[in-house]
Amino acid sequence: MRGKTVLVTGGAGYIGSHCCVDLIEAGYDVVAVDNFANSVENDGVAPSLKQVERITGKSVTFQKCDLLDRDSVIKLFKQHQIDCVIHTAALKVIGDSMLLSLQYYNNNLIGTINLLEAMEMANCYDFVYSSSCTVYGDPEFVPITEDHPTGNVKNVYGRTKYFIEEMLKDLSNSDPKWNIISLRYFNPVSAHPSGLLGEDPTKENHYVLPYIVSVALGKKPHVTIFGRDYKTPDGTGVRDYIHIMDLASGHVAALKKLGGNEKLGFQAYNLGLGRGLSVLELIKEFEKVTGTHVPIVYAERRVGDAGAVICSTKKALSELNWAPKYGLPEMCQDLWRWQTMFPNGYKTEKISHEYLVVGGWNLVYFLNNKDWSQSQVTGNVSVIPSSSSSPSSVNEMASSSSSATNQASGGGAAGGGDGDGNPNKQPQKTDEQSKQVVMPFPTHMLPEVCKFMPVEELWKLADVSSEWRTIVLPFIMERTMNVDDGAAGGGP
Ligand SMILES: NC(=O)c1ccc[n+]([C@@H]2O[C@H](COP(=O)([O-])OP(=O)(O)OC[C@H]3O[C@@H](n4cnc5c(N)ncnc54)[C@H](O)[C@@H]3O)[C@@H](O)[C@H]2O)c1
Repeated sequence: MRGKTVLVTGGAGYIGSHCCVDLIEAGYDVVAVDNFANSVENDGVAPSLKQVERITGKSVTFQKCDLLDRDSVIKLFKQHQIDCVIHTAALKVIGDSMLLSLQYYNNNLIGTINLLEAMEMANCYDFVYSSSCTVYGDPEFVPITEDHPTGNVKNVYGRTKYFIEEMLKDLSNSDPKWNIISLRYFNPVSAHPSGLLGEDPTKENHYVLPYIVSVALGKKPHVTIFGRDYKTPDGTGVRDYIHIMDLASGHVAALKKLGGNEKLGFQAYNLGLGRGLSVLELIKEFEKVTGTHVPIVYAERRVGDAGAVICSTKKALSELNWAPKYGLPEMCQDLWRWQTMFPNGYKTEKISHEYLVVGGWNLVYFLNNKDWSQSQVTGNVSVIPSSSSSPSSVNEMASSSSSATNQASGGGAAGGGDGDGNPNKQPQKTDEQSKQVVMPFPTHMLPEVCKFMPVEELWKLADVSSEWRTIVLPFIMERTMNVDDGAAGGGP
C-alpha cells in the first residue's frame, strides 16, 4: 500500500525543513516546495533539505515553486498524488510587513488561496496551517487558551495570519470535506539536535534567541532588553518558547488527527511549552549552557510589546496526543551546536577534505588486532590511513605481534604525536596500500575511529543511523570548528 504523501510549502524554510525530518521519520513521503524568498538556494537545490536527507537517510522530493504562480501550483497536484498539506510558506518579518503591506497581503493571502484552490481541484482536503500566537494580539489573559479572542492584531504580518484563519473557518463551513488544523506557534527556537539543520533566513529578523547567539559569537555587541518594569518576576518580558523539534512533532500529531475519522472542520491548537521564560532567564541559561558571555543593555519598553505571552497547551495535549519533550537547556544546546557547526549557515559550509596525519596505520593495527568476538559488530568503516608508513597488507597486520598492537593502540588512542608506535616494524607504504582499508568495528570504537577520519568520511558514517550520529557528530563538530580556526591537520 502507498504511504501518505504530504506537501510541505515553504519546505526549505526554518519550520518547514524541520517538519520534513519528523514527517519522514514518521513514515510520510514528502514533497516540498519553496520559492527561496527567505531560504538559501544552491542552483535550484535547497541545502536545508539536503541536510534533511542527510539526517533521515531518505530523499525529499523538492520543486522550486512560487505559490503566487497559480498554474504551477495546480500542476504540482497533477504531478504528485498529495494526500495532505502543511502550509508554512509565508513572508514573516513583522517590520517589513509594515513597510511592504501589499507584498505581504499578496504573498500570504493570494499564495494561500491558490494553494487551497489547487487542493480542491485535486480532491485533497486535509490542511495544516502555520498560524501564530500573534493572532491573539495583546493577551487579555494568560495562559492563552484557543478560545481567547483573536483579531486585535497591530501589524500587517499578524493580520495576514488572522485573515487566513478567518478564511479557513469560512471554507470549512462552506464544505464539510475540509479538515483544517491551524497550529498557533509560540516562539519556535533552536535547531535539530544533530546540529546539521537550523534556521538560516536570507532576510534579517530580530528574534531574541538567534540575536543572543550573534552576540555570543561576537557578531553583535550586546543584547538590548526593552523594558525591565513589566509585572513579571524579574521585570523583563516573558515569552513561551518551544523547541523546533517539538513544534515539528506537533505537525505529525496534527496530520494523525486529520487522518482519523473525525470530522474536524476548523480546529486551532496552541503549540508552546505552556511555560513562560523571561528574556533575562533565557540569556542566563544560554550563558550557562554554552559557557559564553552575553552583554546586556537595558532600554525603554517598546510600544506594543506585551509583558507576558504564555499559552495553555491543554487542548493540544489532550486532543493531539502530543507533548513537548525539550526544555530550555536543550533549546540552548541545540541552537549553539548548529551555530558553531555552521556559523555562516548553509551559505559557506566549511568541511575539510584533508586527512589527518595523526595516527595513520597505528589505528589500523589497533582495530585489526583486537578480539572482536565479544563485541557487537555494527558495520564496516573505511579507515583511510595517512601516515607515511604502513604494513604491507591488512592480513599482515592481523598477524602482527601483540606488542606491536599495544604500542599501536597507545599511539592511536592518544590521538597525538606522529602516531607511529614502532616505525621500525612497519614496511613502507605503497600507492596501492594508501587506499582505504575496510574493516568491521564495534560501536564503542567509533570515537577512536572518528579521530582519524577525514570529515567527508565522517559525514557518511553520520548518515547510517541515529546511534552512529550521536557518536560521530561531536567529532564532525570538533573537526569543523578546528577547520574554521585554521587548525586542521594536513594531508594529501
Ligand atoms: N518562526 C517563527 O517564529 C514563527 C512563529 C509563528 C508563525 N510562524 C509561521 O510559520 C511559517 C514558517 O515560518 P518559518 O520561521 O519557517 O519562516 P521561513 O521564512 O524560514 O520559511 C518560510 C518559507 O516559505 C517560503 N515562501 C515564502 N513565500 C513563498 C511563496 N509565495 N511561494 C513559495 N514559498 C514561499 C520562503 O522562501 C521560506 O523558505 C510561516 O507561515 C510563519 O508565518 C513562524
